Amino acid sequence: MPALCLRPAALPAFRTNRSGVGRSRAGVAVVRARQDNVLDAEPSVELINGAVASGPSLAVEVNGLKLPNPFVIGSGPPGTNYAVMKKAFEEGWGAVIAKTVSLDSSKVVNVTPRYAKMKSHDGKEVIGWENIELISDRSLEVMLKEFKQLKAEFPDRVLIASIMEEYNKPAWEELIERCQEAGVDAFEINFSCPHGMPERRMGMAMGQDCELLQEVCGWINAKATVPVWAKMTPNITDITQPAHAALAAGCEGVSAINTITSVMGINLGTLRPEPCVEGHTTPGGYSSTAVKPIALAKCMAIAQTIKRDFPGRTLSGLGGVNTGRDAAEFILLGSDTVQVCTGVMLYGYPMVKKLCGGLQAFMAQHDFKSLDDFRGASLPYFTTHHELVRMQREAVEAKKKARVGLAKDDEWSGDGFVAEAESMVSN
Ligand SMILES: Cc1cc2nc3c(=O)[nH]c(=O)nc-3n(C[C@H](O)[C@H](O)[C@H](O)COP(=O)(O)O)c2cc1C
Repeated sequence: MPALCLRPAALPAFRTNRSGVGRSRAGVAVVRARQDNVLDAEPSVELINGAVASGPSLAVEVNGLKLPNPFVIGSGPPGTNYAVMKKAFEEGWGAVIAKTVSLDSSKVVNVTPRYAKMKSHDGKEVIGWENIELISDRSLEVMLKEFKQLKAEFPDRVLIASIMEEYNKPAWEELIERCQEAGVDAFEINFSCPHGMPERRMGMAMGQDCELLQEVCGWINAKATVPVWAKMTPNITDITQPAHAALAAGCEGVSAINTITSVMGINLGTLRPEPCVEGHTTPGGYSSTAVKPIALAKCMAIAQTIKRDFPGRTLSGLGGVNTGRDAAEFILLGSDTVQVCTGVMLYGYPMVKKLCGGLQAFMAQHDFKSLDDFRGASLPYFTTHHELVRMQREAVEAKKKARVGLAKDDEWSGDGFVAEAESMVSN
């Protein structure tokens, strides 16, 4: 992979010169990749405190939380500190999930470069994004202070803390208590971070072990007084099993998916893998457009589980969402809210206006007046392969029976002769 953007990304606005090399406001050198903006053709709408100024409402109520629109900042760099979360609320995002925090940030040590892109053959479009980033390396005290400040400035907007801890009940209880004191509206539990943390039996390691997950969710739900969503890893054979365990342990909702374990590629000149740190790498997490079909499959399976065994619980879908139409697909499969993480790193916070515009345009096409009009509407169209074969056979039979007239003179029969003649009469 070409070594683009090898400095910390997700920086504030920056200026580039003609060669595409620029400097961010933080003074960090940035090489800007040429990139087609998939949002160029999307309609943009005006948002007032996140609510659409005209057209059908996009408001959602989920687990008692009132969101002006279904678009939620997914945990990661777009929710990493006060400045960026404030920007998200100002631009109109329906809710913000902060970058994952734990009690002791001193154990979190990130490396740079930590991202690598998968591009289309012409190099214009980012298709996939790998990261080897850990959870927040900022101190919990600072993050809590910022949560408090954000809730003071945006009391009506939804702020969700993403939390992660080791297999240690008092640690989870302390983390929950302190976040609740800071005023967060809900929790998303990170049972899904694919790198770094599994070495400490956290994140994905916990999310792949249903017994452990159910026990920890029990602790969390006994302590939490606000809604809890469990975020699932796709790096498991059957994602409905941990989702079932989390919901059985009392979680109000499930989020899916976190990133997919990946190796972005090998530099064929140096023979070293990307992203390359001191000549080495570690498998990372894959996100962005390329993961959308996988995310949709996982969400579909979880939505069916919720419908069957946990009616009333909720699903927050994510993975590769860049446009309002992408979001419509997640909602058609039963998602109550739709998160975006990498998309914000590629297109910036104002994209929420285009996400809302694109979703409204889809709704206008079908005359849907609210998200409830089509939530889960495509779920009934999934079945087994066995059923597909049966349905196709039946359809062929029905077509044969309904056929009017004879195709060839060979088909005249003695017994059915009169009916066959009648079938070709026009009046
Ligand atoms: C750079 C980066 C950092 C991330 N950090 C976190 C994190 O701290 N906690 C978490 O739950 N998910 C984290 N994620 C995962 C995203 O929230 C999301 O689940 C995943 O990237 C798929 O969605 P997307 O295609 O919209 O990015 C991170 C993703 C990226 C790209």
